Amino acid sequence: MTSEIPAEILSKLTEHAQEHLANGWELLSQSDQKQFEEQIQSVAFSQINDLFSQKTGLNSTNEQDSDRINSEEATAPAEIIRFNDQEPDNQQHLNAKQLGQQAIKSGQVGAVLVAGGQGTRLGFPYAKGMFEIGPISGKSLFQIFVEQLLALSLKYDCSIPYFIMTSDANHEETVGFFEKNDYFGYRSDRIFFFKQGVMPAVDAKTGKLLLADPGKLALSPDGHGGLLNAIEDAGLLQVINDFGVEYLFYHQVDNPTAILCDPLLLGYHIQHQSEMTTKVVAKRSPDEKMGVVCDYHGETRIIEYSDMSEDVARKKDHSGEIMHWAGNMAIHVLNVKFITKLLTDHFGLPVHIAHKKVPYWDHSTQVHVEPEEPNAYKFEKFIFDALPFASKALVVEADRVAEFNPVKNASGNDSPEKVKQAISQLHQKWLESSGIEVAKNVIVEISPLFALSSEDVEAKKDLDREIKIDTYFEESSR
Ligand code: UTP
Repeated sequence: MTSEIPAEILSKLTEHAQEHLANGWELLSQSDQKQFEEQIQSVAFSQINDLFSQKTGLNSTNEQDSDRINSEEATAPAEIIRFNDQEPDNQQHLNAKQLGQQAIKSGQVGAVLVAGGQGTRLGFPYAKGMFEIGPISGKSLFQIFVEQLLALSLKYDCSIPYFIMTSDANHEETVGFFEKNDYFGYRSDRIFFFKQGVMPAVDAKTGKLLLADPGKLALSPDGHGGLLNAIEDAGLLQVINDFGVEYLFYHQVDNPTAILCDPLLLGYHIQHQSEMTTKVVAKRSPDEKMGVVCDYHGETRIIEYSDMSEDVARKKDHSGEIMHWAGNMAIHVLNVKFITKLLTDHFGLPVHIAHKKVPYWDHSTQVHVEPEEPNAYKFEKFIFDALPFASKALVVEADRVAEFNPVKNASGNDSPEKVKQAISQLHQKWLESSGIEVAKNVIVEISPLFALSSEDVEAKKDLDREIKIDTYFEESSR
């Protein structure tokens, strides 16, 4: 026997002009009604309605309107360590690297991977981290990251906890993948999976919440900015503190050439007493679709490319250089104390609104609709919006070719094919800097357990001086 919609739920829906969700309630099974009720209870309707009004310019009461960033007022980042300043024998650089290494050795560093995204552009039907990206080994993104941490743990005789954020859409398969692969040789009690929150999608014309199925809201992950609340909700702040971790190295699932727990970045972060540090790469061109790190009225901020007009993106500084060159490569270091402070202050990261295609259940026609054009607004928070809250933020430039090769699209730029080539070229460079010649058109790949850098390759004795066939440099240290 199914029951009528509880009065309290109906009045909540009516109050927020979302009473269409009550249609068909009595057709749901009791357990579906219970789940639907829980979903409805968890929605912050006022916030969603406010965001919709803000987007459409209707009756907006949202304070964020007046706080809108005017990108014309942004300038280049105030404090930045340029890649050119990082010559290997530069004393400041050496000191920073040593500081970072010391922090890793003494167990003050943890790593955070945000892997809750839906990876729609790549079109891979599983969690993106399961995608096989090793050009010869076929190793997955997840394996490459974990092996980097394993290599660091062995090198520095330490243990680095790894916190992996998933979402409803990929949690089970992510955890299952790690279990099946025996955590890629890492200690299972050093890997922590936790799920991020969700936000509902609304119809872009009406602001009505969409259903994915009868009795099920169309929900999607709340963006990588959901990280902070998700850490708290999963009780991980305690775990992080119990490990004695003071610095969290943040990275994303799509970039296999990210240098996990980069000692240089950590060192600069510590040296400059930064609360949040971000790595940037030079944009290829002013119109490259990449957020940029800027100084905005004395605060370090990342402005999305979509929030910057072409004119602003092309603006030059007094020396004739493109002002907004510092592209966000989505690698950050955050102090645990900074995160704790933000959470204690109950601060809220701003919510960004995206116009997207969201499949939905149409109750009036009783069919699932697959829209061909964007039909809905989705809401997301971005972790980089924490930057302006830092009392001290630092920006460090990285070598783009070596460190920024994300897998985003199925073909073209940032595609698996391009990323595999980039890995091979990078590893070829490492070999060549040790005097090893790699024949033309030969593919090479170096396991993180064999070497993490060109210096590690240099330290290897008795390597062949010429590589004539495709070669995978296997882990020697397991
Ligand atoms: P992207 O912005 O590339 O989004 O995420 P995506 O969902 O992976 O891919 P598309 O846009 O649908 O093609 C950048 C990083 O942020 C994580 C992703 O997993 C990736 O590591 N992310 C994104 C989350 O963890 N949660 C989210 O809600 C969104």
